Amino acid sequence: MAAAGKTVCVTGAGGFIASWLVKLLLSRGQYAVRGTVRDPGASKNAHLKALEGAGERLQLLKADLLDYSSVASAIAGREGVFHVASPVPSGRSSNPEVEVIGPAVVGTTGTTNVLKACYEAKVKRVVVVSSVAAVFSNPNWPKDKAFDEDCWSDEDYCRKNEDWYYLSKTLSEREAFVYAAKTGLDVVTICQFSVFGPLMQSIVNASSKILLNYFKGDHETVENRLRNMVDVRDVADALLLSYEKPEASGRYICSSNPIKVSDMINILKTLYPTYPYPKNSVETDDNSIYSSEKLQKLGWTFRPTEETLRDSVESYKAFGILN
Ligand SMILES: NC(=O)c1ccc[n+]([C@@H]2O[C@H](COP(=O)([O-])OP(=O)(O)OC[C@H]3O[C@@H](n4cnc5c(N)ncnc54)[C@H](OP(=O)(O)O)[C@@H]3O)[C@@H](O)[C@H]2O)c1
Repeated sequence: MAAAGKTVCVTGAGGFIASWLVKLLLSRGQYAVRGTVRDPGASKNAHLKALEGAGERLQLLKADLLDYSSVASAIAGREGVFHVASPVPSGRSSNPEVEVIGPAVVGTTGTTNVLKACYEAKVKRVVVVSSVAAVFSNPNWPKDKAFDEDCWSDEDYCRKNEDWYYLSKTLSEREAFVYAAKTGLDVVTICQFSVFGPLMQSIVNASSKILLNYFKGDHETVENRLRNMVDVRDVADALLLSYEKPEASGRYICSSNPIKVSDMINILKTLYPTYPYPKNSVETDDNSIYSSEKLQKLGWTFRPTEETLRDSVESYKAFGILN
Protein backbone atom coordinates (compact mmCIF):
# COMPACT_ATOMS: atom_id res chain seq x y z
CA MET A 1 0.00 0.00 0.00
CA ALA A 2 1.42 3.42 -0.96
CA ALA A 3 0.07 5.54 1.91
CA ALA A 4 -2.87 5.13 4.25
CA GLY A 5 -5.79 7.28 3.21
CA LYS A 6 -7.40 9.69 5.63
CA THR A 7 -11.03 9.23 4.61
CA VAL A 8 -12.20 6.06 6.31
CA CYS A 9 -15.34 4.10 7.06
CA VAL A 10 -15.90 2.08 10.26
CA THR A 11 -18.72 -0.49 10.11
CA GLY A 12 -20.77 -1.06 13.26
CA ALA A 13 -19.40 2.19 14.71
CA GLY A 14 -21.52 2.14 17.88
CA GLY A 15 -20.21 -1.23 19.15
CA PHE A 16 -17.70 -1.79 21.96
CA ILE A 17 -14.52 -2.06 19.86
CA ALA A 18 -15.60 0.25 17.03
CA SER A 19 -16.44 3.09 19.45
CA TRP A 20 -12.85 3.12 20.70
CA LEU A 21 -11.55 2.98 17.15
CA VAL A 22 -13.71 5.94 16.11
CA LYS A 23 -12.45 7.87 19.16
CA LEU A 24 -8.83 7.04 18.26
CA LEU A 25 -9.28 8.07 14.63
CA LEU A 26 -10.90 11.37 15.60
CA SER A 27 -8.16 12.06 18.16
CA ARG A 28 -5.56 11.88 15.37
CA GLY A 29 -7.02 15.05 13.88
CA GLN A 30 -6.50 14.15 10.24
CA TYR A 31 -9.10 11.41 9.74
CA ALA A 32 -12.56 12.09 8.32
CA VAL A 33 -14.61 9.19 9.65
CA ARG A 34 -17.83 7.74 8.32
CA GLY A 35 -19.39 5.30 10.77
CA THR A 36 -22.17 2.88 9.88
CA VAL A 37 -24.87 2.10 12.42
CA ARG A 38 -28.21 0.39 11.99
CA ASP A 39 -30.09 3.13 13.82
CA PRO A 40 -28.38 6.56 13.75
CA GLY A 41 -31.05 8.08 16.02
CA ALA A 42 -30.79 5.41 18.75
CA SER A 43 -29.63 6.53 22.20
CA LYS A 44 -27.11 3.64 22.21
CA ASN A 45 -25.13 5.54 19.53
CA ALA A 46 -25.31 8.96 21.24
CA HIS A 47 -21.81 8.61 22.74
CA LEU A 48 -20.31 8.83 19.23
CA LYS A 49 -21.77 12.26 18.57
CA ALA A 50 -20.30 13.52 21.86
CA LEU A 51 -16.71 12.58 20.90
CA GLU A 52 -14.19 15.36 20.48
CA GLY A 53 -13.95 16.22 16.77
CA ALA A 54 -17.22 14.39 15.95
CA GLY A 55 -19.00 17.57 14.93
CA GLU A 56 -16.47 18.31 12.18
CA ARG A 57 -15.16 14.89 11.19
CA LEU A 58 -17.67 12.15 12.02
CA GLN A 59 -20.61 11.28 9.84
CA LEU A 60 -23.01 8.51 10.90
CA LEU A 61 -24.78 6.61 8.15
CA LYS A 62 -27.50 4.00 8.40
CA ALA A 63 -26.34 0.66 6.97
CA ASP A 64 -27.14 -2.99 7.48
CA LEU A 65 -24.55 -5.58 6.43
CA LEU A 66 -27.30 -7.52 4.67
CA ASP A 67 -28.24 -4.55 2.48
CA TYR A 68 -25.56 -4.07 -0.20
CA SER A 69 -26.67 -0.63 -1.35
CA SER A 70 -26.54 0.81 2.20
CA VAL A 71 -23.05 -0.63 2.70
CA ALA A 72 -21.87 0.60 -0.73
CA SER A 73 -23.14 4.15 -0.07
CA ALA A 74 -21.25 4.28 3.22
CA ILE A 75 -18.00 3.05 1.64
CA ALA A 76 -18.16 5.11 -1.59
CA GLY A 77 -15.40 7.72 -1.70
CA ARG A 78 -13.47 6.25 1.26
CA GLU A 79 -9.77 5.40 1.04
CA GLY A 80 -9.82 2.96 3.92
CA VAL A 81 -12.35 0.71 5.64
CA PHE A 82 -12.38 -0.92 9.07
CA HIS A 83 -14.92 -3.73 8.96
CA VAL A 84 -15.82 -4.23 12.61
CA ALA A 85 -19.56 -5.04 12.55
CA SER A 86 -20.66 -8.62 13.14
CA PRO A 87 -23.30 -10.30 15.26
CA VAL A 88 -21.62 -11.33 18.54
CA PRO A 89 -24.04 -13.59 20.42
CA SER A 90 -23.70 -14.06 24.19
CA GLY A 91 -24.95 -17.65 24.12
CA ARG A 92 -25.73 -20.37 21.61
CA SER A 93 -27.95 -19.26 18.77
CA SER A 94 -31.14 -21.21 18.05
CA ASN A 95 -31.15 -20.07 14.39
CA PRO A 96 -27.44 -19.70 13.54
CA GLU A 97 -27.76 -19.33 9.75
CA VAL A 98 -30.00 -16.30 10.12
CA GLU A 99 -28.73 -14.79 13.37
CA VAL A 100 -24.96 -15.31 13.12
CA ILE A 101 -23.62 -16.79 9.91
CA GLY A 102 -25.69 -14.83 7.38
CA PRO A 103 -24.88 -11.32 8.63
CA ALA A 104 -21.23 -12.25 9.23
CA VAL A 105 -20.47 -13.92 5.90
CA VAL A 106 -22.52 -15.90 3.42
CA GLY A 107 -22.37 -15.53 -0.33
CA THR A 108 -23.47 -12.06 -1.28
CA THR A 109 -24.18 -10.82 2.24
CA GLY A 110 -22.27 -9.81 5.35
CA THR A 111 -18.52 -9.50 4.91
CA THR A 112 -18.86 -10.20 1.20
CA ASN A 113 -21.01 -7.08 0.82
CA VAL A 114 -18.34 -5.00 2.54
CA LEU A 115 -15.51 -6.47 0.43
CA LYS A 116 -17.42 -5.96 -2.81
CA ALA A 117 -18.23 -2.36 -1.87
CA CYS A 118 -14.53 -1.78 -1.02
CA TYR A 119 -13.46 -3.16 -4.38
CA GLU A 120 -16.00 -1.06 -6.27
CA ALA A 121 -14.91 2.06 -4.35
CA LYS A 122 -11.19 1.32 -5.00
CA VAL A 123 -10.46 1.34 -1.28
CA LYS A 124 -6.71 1.25 -0.63
CA ARG A 125 -6.90 -1.11 2.36
CA VAL A 126 -9.61 -2.85 4.34
CA VAL A 127 -8.89 -4.01 7.87
CA VAL A 128 -11.27 -6.83 8.78
CA VAL A 129 -11.91 -7.53 12.46
CA SER A 130 -11.80 -11.31 12.78
CA SER A 131 -11.25 -13.19 16.05
CA VAL A 132 -9.15 -15.91 17.59
CA ALA A 133 -12.37 -17.87 17.15
CA ALA A 134 -11.09 -18.25 13.58
CA VAL A 135 -7.76 -19.58 14.92
CA PHE A 136 -8.06 -21.90 17.90
CA SER A 137 -10.88 -24.34 17.15
CA ASN A 138 -8.59 -26.88 15.56
CA PRO A 139 -8.01 -30.28 17.22
CA ASN A 140 -5.02 -30.97 14.97
CA TRP A 141 -2.85 -28.07 16.22
CA PRO A 142 -0.07 -29.48 18.46
CA LYS A 143 -1.02 -29.11 22.14
CA ASP A 144 2.37 -27.77 23.20
CA LYS A 145 2.68 -25.21 20.39
CA ALA A 146 1.57 -21.58 20.72
CA PHE A 147 -1.24 -20.71 18.34
CA ASP A 148 0.01 -18.41 15.61
CA GLU A 149 -1.32 -16.97 12.36
CA ASP A 150 -0.81 -20.30 10.53
CA CYS A 151 -3.56 -21.98 12.51
CA TRP A 152 -7.14 -21.83 11.20
CA SER A 153 -10.22 -23.11 12.98
CA ASP A 154 -11.53 -26.29 11.40
CA GLU A 155 -14.94 -25.55 9.87
CA ASP A 156 -16.23 -29.15 10.20
CA TYR A 157 -15.10 -29.26 13.83
CA CYS A 158 -16.95 -25.95 14.52
CA ARG A 159 -20.08 -27.39 12.86
CA LYS A 160 -19.81 -30.65 14.80
CA ASN A 161 -19.57 -28.71 18.08
CA GLU A 162 -22.28 -26.24 16.96
CA ASP A 163 -19.85 -23.37 17.61
CA TRP A 164 -21.68 -21.11 15.18
CA TYR A 165 -19.91 -17.89 16.14
CA TYR A 166 -16.50 -19.56 15.64
CA LEU A 167 -17.73 -20.84 12.29
CA SER A 168 -19.01 -17.40 11.25
CA LYS A 169 -15.68 -15.74 12.04
CA THR A 170 -13.70 -18.50 10.29
CA LEU A 171 -15.85 -18.38 7.15
CA SER A 172 -15.80 -14.59 6.96
CA GLU A 173 -12.03 -14.27 7.46
CA ARG A 174 -11.37 -16.97 4.86
CA GLU A 175 -13.80 -15.25 2.50
CA ALA A 176 -11.88 -12.00 2.96
CA PHE A 177 -8.58 -13.57 1.86
CA VAL A 178 -10.16 -15.48 -1.03
CA TYR A 179 -11.73 -12.23 -2.25
CA ALA A 180 -8.41 -10.40 -1.83
CA ALA A 181 -6.56 -13.04 -3.88
CA LYS A 182 -9.23 -12.89 -6.59
CA THR A 183 -9.44 -9.10 -6.92
CA GLY A 184 -6.17 -7.67 -5.57
CA LEU A 185 -8.01 -5.82 -2.77
CA ASP A 186 -5.57 -5.11 0.09
CA VAL A 187 -7.00 -6.97 3.10
CA VAL A 188 -5.49 -7.24 6.58
CA THR A 189 -7.21 -9.10 9.42
CA ILE A 190 -6.94 -8.81 13.19
CA CYS A 191 -7.72 -11.86 15.35
CA GLN A 192 -8.15 -10.69 18.89
CA PHE A 193 -8.86 -12.61 22.05
CA SER A 194 -11.54 -11.74 24.64
CA VAL A 195 -11.68 -7.98 24.71
CA PHE A 196 -12.14 -6.22 28.03
CA GLY A 197 -11.71 -2.58 29.03
CA PRO A 198 -13.86 0.46 29.65
CA LEU A 199 -17.24 0.71 27.96
CA MET A 200 -18.00 3.85 25.98
CA GLN A 201 -21.43 2.65 24.94
CA SER A 202 -24.40 2.05 27.24
CA ILE A 203 -25.05 -1.49 25.91
CA VAL A 204 -23.01 -4.24 27.57
CA ASN A 205 -21.42 -6.33 24.80
CA ALA A 206 -20.84 -10.09 24.99
CA SER A 207 -17.18 -10.08 26.14
CA SER A 208 -17.76 -7.51 28.89
CA LYS A 209 -20.46 -9.83 30.24
CA ILE A 210 -17.76 -12.51 30.77
CA LEU A 211 -15.89 -10.17 33.11
CA LEU A 212 -19.07 -8.94 34.81
CA ASN A 213 -20.00 -12.55 35.61
CA TYR A 214 -17.11 -12.75 38.10
CA PHE A 215 -18.80 -10.13 40.27
CA LYS A 216 -22.23 -11.68 40.49
CA GLY A 217 -21.70 -14.40 43.06
CA ASP A 218 -23.43 -16.90 40.71
CA HIS A 219 -20.41 -19.16 40.45
CA GLU A 220 -18.98 -20.80 43.55
CA THR A 221 -16.21 -22.42 41.48
CA VAL A 222 -14.39 -21.37 38.30
CA GLU A 223 -12.04 -23.24 35.99
CA ASN A 224 -8.54 -21.99 36.64
CA ARG A 225 -7.39 -21.89 33.04
CA LEU A 226 -5.14 -19.39 31.34
CA ARG A 227 -7.31 -16.52 30.16
CA ASN A 228 -6.03 -14.69 27.13
CA MET A 229 -7.42 -11.19 26.81
CA VAL A 230 -6.72 -7.82 25.32
CA ASP A 231 -7.68 -4.26 26.21
CA VAL A 232 -10.20 -2.63 23.87
CA ARG A 233 -7.95 0.44 23.56
CA ASP A 234 -5.04 -1.79 22.52
CA VAL A 235 -7.28 -3.43 19.91
CA ALA A 236 -8.10 0.01 18.49
CA ASP A 237 -4.33 0.69 18.34
CA ALA A 238 -3.78 -2.62 16.53
CA LEU A 239 -6.47 -1.80 13.97
CA LEU A 240 -5.02 1.62 13.22
CA LEU A 241 -1.45 0.32 13.13
CA SER A 242 -2.37 -2.41 10.67
CA TYR A 243 -4.11 0.22 8.54
CA GLU A 244 -1.32 2.76 8.59
CA LYS A 245 1.74 0.53 8.26
CA PRO A 246 2.36 -0.09 4.54
CA GLU A 247 4.15 -3.35 5.32
CA ALA A 248 1.19 -4.85 7.23
CA SER A 249 -0.20 -7.95 5.51
CA GLY A 250 -2.19 -11.10 6.19
CA ARG A 251 -3.60 -11.87 9.62
CA TYR A 252 -2.47 -10.79 13.08
CA ILE A 253 -3.21 -12.43 16.41
CA CYS A 254 -3.86 -9.74 19.02
CA SER A 255 -3.61 -10.84 22.65
CA SER A 256 -1.79 -9.51 25.70
CA ASN A 257 -0.01 -11.75 28.21
CA PRO A 258 -2.25 -14.58 29.41
CA ILE A 259 -3.26 -14.72 33.06
CA LYS A 260 -4.67 -17.53 35.22
CA VAL A 261 -8.30 -16.92 36.14
CA SER A 262 -7.41 -17.20 39.86
CA ASP A 263 -4.74 -14.48 39.45
CA MET A 264 -7.24 -12.27 37.66
CA ILE A 265 -9.77 -12.69 40.45
CA ASN A 266 -7.06 -11.93 43.01
CA ILE A 267 -6.28 -8.64 41.25
CA LEU A 268 -9.99 -7.75 41.26
CA LYS A 269 -10.29 -8.72 44.95
CA THR A 270 -7.36 -6.46 45.82
CA LEU A 271 -8.81 -3.52 43.87
CA TYR A 272 -12.48 -4.10 44.76
CA PRO A 273 -12.71 -6.34 47.83
CA THR A 274 -16.46 -6.22 48.49
CA TYR A 275 -17.92 -8.25 45.59
CA PRO A 276 -18.99 -11.92 45.95
CA TYR A 277 -16.27 -13.45 43.76
CA PRO A 278 -16.10 -17.20 43.03
CA LYS A 279 -14.57 -18.89 46.09
CA ASN A 280 -12.93 -21.94 44.54
CA SER A 281 -11.10 -22.84 41.40
CA VAL A 282 -10.43 -26.16 39.71
CA GLU A 283 -7.36 -26.74 37.57
CA THR A 284 -7.83 -27.54 33.88
CA ASP A 285 -5.51 -28.60 31.10
CA ASP A 286 -6.80 -25.87 28.76
CA ASN A 287 -3.79 -23.62 29.01
CA SER A 288 -3.35 -22.63 25.38
CA ILE A 289 -0.85 -19.93 24.52
CA TYR A 290 -1.21 -17.45 21.67
CA SER A 291 1.59 -15.57 19.99
CA SER A 292 1.13 -11.90 19.09
CA GLU A 293 4.76 -11.68 17.99
CA LYS A 294 3.85 -10.74 14.42
CA LEU A 295 1.74 -7.79 15.60
CA GLN A 296 4.39 -6.72 18.11
CA LYS A 297 6.97 -6.70 15.31
CA LEU A 298 4.69 -4.22 13.55
CA GLY A 299 5.07 -1.94 16.60
CA TRP A 300 2.07 -2.98 18.72
CA THR A 301 2.29 -2.78 22.50
CA PHE A 302 -0.30 -3.55 25.16
CA ARG A 303 -1.08 -2.19 28.60
CA PRO A 304 -0.86 -4.10 31.91
CA THR A 305 -3.81 -6.36 32.84
CA GLU A 306 -4.34 -4.47 36.13
CA GLU A 307 -5.06 -1.29 34.19
CA THR A 308 -7.58 -3.06 31.93
CA LEU A 309 -9.39 -4.63 34.87
CA ARG A 310 -9.49 -1.42 36.91
CA ASP A 311 -10.68 0.74 34.02
CA SER A 312 -13.31 -1.85 33.05
CA VAL A 313 -14.75 -1.91 36.56
CA GLU A 314 -14.71 1.88 36.86
CA SER A 315 -16.71 2.15 33.64
CA TYR A 316 -19.24 -0.49 34.82
CA LYS A 317 -19.69 1.55 37.99
CA ALA A 318 -20.07 4.79 36.03
CA PHE A 319 -22.80 3.20 33.87
CA GLY A 320 -24.55 1.87 36.99
CA ILE A 321 -23.99 -1.76 35.92
CA LEU A 322 -22.06 -2.52 39.13
CA ASN A 323 -22.90 -0.86 42.41
N1 LIG B 1 -15.37 -8.37 22.10
C1 LIG B 1 -14.61 -9.41 21.91
O1 LIG B 1 -14.15 -10.05 22.87
C2 LIG B 1 -14.23 -9.82 20.52
C3 LIG B 1 -13.23 -10.78 20.37
C4 LIG B 1 -12.87 -11.17 19.09
C5 LIG B 1 -13.46 -10.59 17.98
N2 LIG B 1 -14.44 -9.66 18.16
C6 LIG B 1 -15.04 -9.07 16.96
O2 LIG B 1 -15.00 -7.66 17.09
C7 LIG B 1 -16.10 -7.07 16.40
C8 LIG B 1 -16.84 -6.11 17.31
O3 LIG B 1 -17.25 -6.79 18.47
P1 LIG B 1 -17.71 -6.01 19.78
O4 LIG B 1 -17.21 -6.79 20.92
O5 LIG B 1 -17.39 -4.59 19.67
O6 LIG B 1 -19.28 -6.28 19.70
P2 LIG B 1 -20.55 -5.31 19.73
O7 LIG B 1 -20.38 -4.24 20.72
O8 LIG B 1 -21.70 -6.25 19.89
O9 LIG B 1 -20.54 -4.70 18.28
C9 LIG B 1 -21.02 -5.40 17.17
C10 LIG B 1 -21.49 -4.39 16.16
O10 LIG B 1 -21.92 -5.08 14.98
C11 LIG B 1 -23.09 -4.46 14.53
N3 LIG B 1 -23.90 -5.40 13.74
C12 LIG B 1 -24.32 -6.62 14.06
N4 LIG B 1 -25.05 -7.15 13.06
C13 LIG B 1 -25.10 -6.20 12.08
C14 LIG B 1 -25.71 -6.12 10.81
N5 LIG B 1 -26.46 -7.12 10.31
N6 LIG B 1 -25.55 -4.98 10.09
C15 LIG B 1 -24.83 -3.94 10.57
N7 LIG B 1 -24.23 -3.96 11.78
C16 LIG B 1 -24.37 -5.08 12.51
C17 LIG B 1 -23.83 -4.02 15.78
O11 LIG B 1 -24.69 -2.97 15.43
P3 LIG B 1 -26.03 -2.65 16.22
O12 LIG B 1 -25.65 -1.73 17.33
O13 LIG B 1 -26.90 -2.02 15.21
O14 LIG B 1 -26.58 -3.96 16.74
C18 LIG B 1 -22.68 -3.56 16.66
O15 LIG B 1 -22.35 -2.21 16.42
C19 LIG B 1 -16.94 -8.23 15.88
O16 LIG B 1 -16.58 -8.45 14.53
C20 LIG B 1 -16.51 -9.39 16.75
O17 LIG B 1 -16.71 -10.63 16.10
C21 LIG B 1 -14.84 -9.26 19.39
